[in-house]
Amino acid sequence: MWGAEGPMILISVSVDRFCGDLLQNSDRHEITGSQAALRLRDMNRSMIVIEQEDILGGHTNTHIDSSAKGPANFGVKVFDDVDITREYFKRLGVPFQKTHLEGGEGDKLYADFRTGEFIDYKPPNMTMALASYAQQAAKYPQLQKGFFFREPVPEDLLLPFAEFIKKYNIGDAIEIIYTYCQGFGDLLKRLTLYVFKTFDLTVLRDLQNGYLIPTSGDNHEVYDKAFEIIKSDVLFRSRVERVHRGLDYVTVVVNTASGTRIIRARKLLVSIAPTLDNLGGFDLDMEEESIFKHFKTTGYYTSVVKVPGLRKFDSLTNFNPNTAYNLPKLPGIYWVTPTAPDKYDIKYGSPRALGDDYVKADIIRTMKRFQAPGSEEPEIVAWSSHTPFGATVSRDAIKSGFYERLYSLQGRRNTYYTGAAFHAHNSGLLWRFTEEVLQEMMK
Ligand SMILES: *[C@@H]1O[C@H](CO)[C@@H](O)[C@H](O)[C@H]1NC(C)=O
Ligand SMILES: *[C@@H]1O[C@H](CO)[C@@H](O)[C@H](O)[C@H]1NC(C)=O
Repeated sequence: MWGAEGPMILISVSVDRFCGDLLQNSDRHEITGSQAALRLRDMNRSMIVIEQEDILGGHTNTHIDSSAKGPANFGVKVFDDVDITREYFKRLGVPFQKTHLEGGEGDKLYADFRTGEFIDYKPPNMTMALASYAQQAAKYPQLQKGFFFREPVPEDLLLPFAEFIKKYNIGDAIEIIYTYCQGFGDLLKRLTLYVFKTFDLTVLRDLQNGYLIPTSGDNHEVYDKAFEIIKSDVLFRSRVERVHRGLDYVTVVVNTASGTRIIRARKLLVSIAPTLDNLGGFDLDMEEESIFKHFKTTGYYTSVVKVPGLRKFDSLTNFNPNTAYNLPKLPGIYWVTPTAPDKYDIKYGSPRALGDDYVKADIIRTMKRFQAPGSEEPEIVAWSSHTPFGATVSRDAIKSGFYERLYSLQGRRNTYYTGAAFHAHNSGLLWRFTEEVLQEMMK
């Protein structure tokens, strides 16, 4: 038993049936657990991180391949250029630089992945559509801080995105918005609020001015450095069995690689997606259950796959000529980008969680359609499931004050929350949010 004296704070990074951490969109997801742990360490607070994996890093996945020009970041690609990201990199001693996401340039190909047929397609000029989107997004700056909006909730935020696109003429910008909203299921049905929370004001600015990445090109460096500092406080390969929250402290029964441990903590910070499934071992009361049950999540998977015998390209996008805005029907591959000779970063999405084996088989089956005859069978060389992903609730729930109720749980029963379901998938914004939650916890 740890922390016999003094306050103890527990950061729950992973629980049973859940791999990785929280949340986030295709290129910028972030784990907040290790950031929170580092901050607590810097404030000299005792804490324990419960991590299911044997490595920190959540959605930051890096594949090193000797035949590649550099590390392949097939999870988090870039970090938001906001003050807290810069501070965090400095604290960790990670040299960083500006970068622009490749886009527009290079050999962009489109194909119908159902048939393997290439499509001759020239994307429209998106300048006007993007400006119209930005003008609307700028009306809701408070969304950068959390799910905050006026009462009653503005109708535009509750429109399915398909209607919002028509209303404000942003059809020509769908390709880029869709790229950022990878992992969120059917973009056209998604409420506009959630699109604004993903393809947000920070992204719009970073698109122009650039994002941040470690100078090494290895995004995992951020976690490797954090790991060096907090490793003695992390229980790797651990799963939460049961949580009991009493008046003065929280008791957590953890299954670790070296047996069962019972941890007593003053406070608990939950950074995983707060779905009923994820919180299975928690002693949820009726109020908590009635809130968390509203969350619906999606399936999102990323991989590096060896596929010999493909035509040369810088990106290959799944394109369905028979749908609105040519968006592919999911489940399916979003797009394919090369990482090394014959190796590709492949992103896959589904409106619902799917088994990893099913998704891997579907990726291989699909990629075979593009191979030259006689090529070797495709092979998965690196894999990460970011499922459950993209937690949302219904329009009715939002209208009846869901997010106020959700936020009212902060601090209740000695439990605090951070992560995408509480805010956004964007790393910088999430770090800021976590910082505020920690300040509350320290009081
Ligand atoms: C934490 O402890 C170290 C070493 O005792 C000390 O130098 C530092 O000022 C402390 N930090 C805070 C925020 O109290
Ligand atoms: C796209 O449209 C904008 C605004 O109408 C224009 O300024 C720009 O030059 C166009 N870009 C291209 C590549 O045609």
